[in-house]
Amino acid sequence: MQPQNFDVNSVIFKNFNQPKLQPFDGTLASSWQSPSNIALIKYWGKKEPQIPMNPSLSFTLKNAFTETTVEAFYSKNNPSINYRFHNQPAPSFQEKLEKLLVRIKDYIPFIQHLKLEINSQNTFPHSAGIASSASSMSALALCLCDIENQLFSNLNKNDFFQKASFLSRLLSGSASRSVYEGVNIWGYQPYISGSSDEFSINANHLIDPYFIDYQDSILIIDDSEKKVSSTLGHSLMNNHIFAEKRFEQARVNLLDLLDAMKNKNEDEFIRIVENEALSLHAMMMTSPKPFMLMKPDTIKIIEKIVEIREQKGLKFCFTLDAGPNIHVLYHKNIKKEVDDVINKELIVNCERIKRLDDFVGCGPTKII
Ligand code: PMV
Repeated sequence: MQPQNFDVNSVIFKNFNQPKLQPFDGTLASSWQSPSNIALIKYWGKKEPQIPMNPSLSFTLKNAFTETTVEAFYSKNNPSINYRFHNQPAPSFQEKLEKLLVRIKDYIPFIQHLKLEINSQNTFPHSAGIASSASSMSALALCLCDIENQLFSNLNKNDFFQKASFLSRLLSGSASRSVYEGVNIWGYQPYISGSSDEFSINANHLIDPYFIDYQDSILIIDDSEKKVSSTLGHSLMNNHIFAEKRFEQARVNLLDLLDAMKNKNEDEFIRIVENEALSLHAMMMTSPKPFMLMKPDTIKIIEKIVEIREQKGLKFCFTLDAGPNIHVLYHKNIKKEVDDVINKELIVNCERIKRLDDFVGCGPTKII
């Protein structure tokens, strides 16, 4: 059964005091930097329209972000989109974006009368094990909400970010979690007040601030194009023999993780985070068309992390996205020790590993 707020919010966003667009001269412009995020409780499996099969929780990152600028010109009957990536034409992204925008056009009807010039750039390499769709789609949604507000002054601060999360979700599910700082939850959970399948909510008030100082060192084991696209990956859950159990596991893990984060129980935090990462990969390995996304070095490093944690009592752990790259998570208090372990023990005998250092961040920033 859908949560009660399912249809209600869609309707609210559709009719958000948007009068008919009047012609205007000149250019409207908006520019936002929006970060990527790393899920601790994984979203894997969805139904139409981009409704998650289980709630998820993530850390918003800081250094890995997309900066997007949207310029809008009035054009009564000739709307168009011109997309550039790092100031260069990007026809394949443009085509993808045109298809994605169809999903949100009813909520931003004014774009039917606009020519949009969009330029995006990322601070991190493509396919680096960082969700570029989360940062790029949330940056775009923030710009579009900003243009809406410049036109109609209809969104207060709360509505603005909620709508940005809502639009981000329709463009790429996990992007909905990038519009707020710190820790965010997307997906309805009866015990979490305000939670919704349609947009994310900030969860900083539900946890001990200790976790806001968490670091994420990303070890890039393989930076080639993703073997399993998100769309294919989510669809693998449709006929998966373990699907219902997996969704139930994620729901239980979410509540247990929040409990651990509230009570600063780092051992339990580590247990759940690693359980989620391995469950995600187990789902892929056991799906009707199986995928094995971990590489030998992924397994080598995971085993080392567990071994060193047990030997030295160093409280650090790993998580994975739908790929071979490893996110090493730890508190800033042990940064020096973990740096040493990464350099001297985790990546020494592995081939060509690149490393990107990030940490829990303060959410998107408006540039213009
Ligand atoms: O937002 P999508 O459709 O790219 O899916 C993201 C899926 C995972 O990264 C594997 C998990 C998550 O919750 O971010």
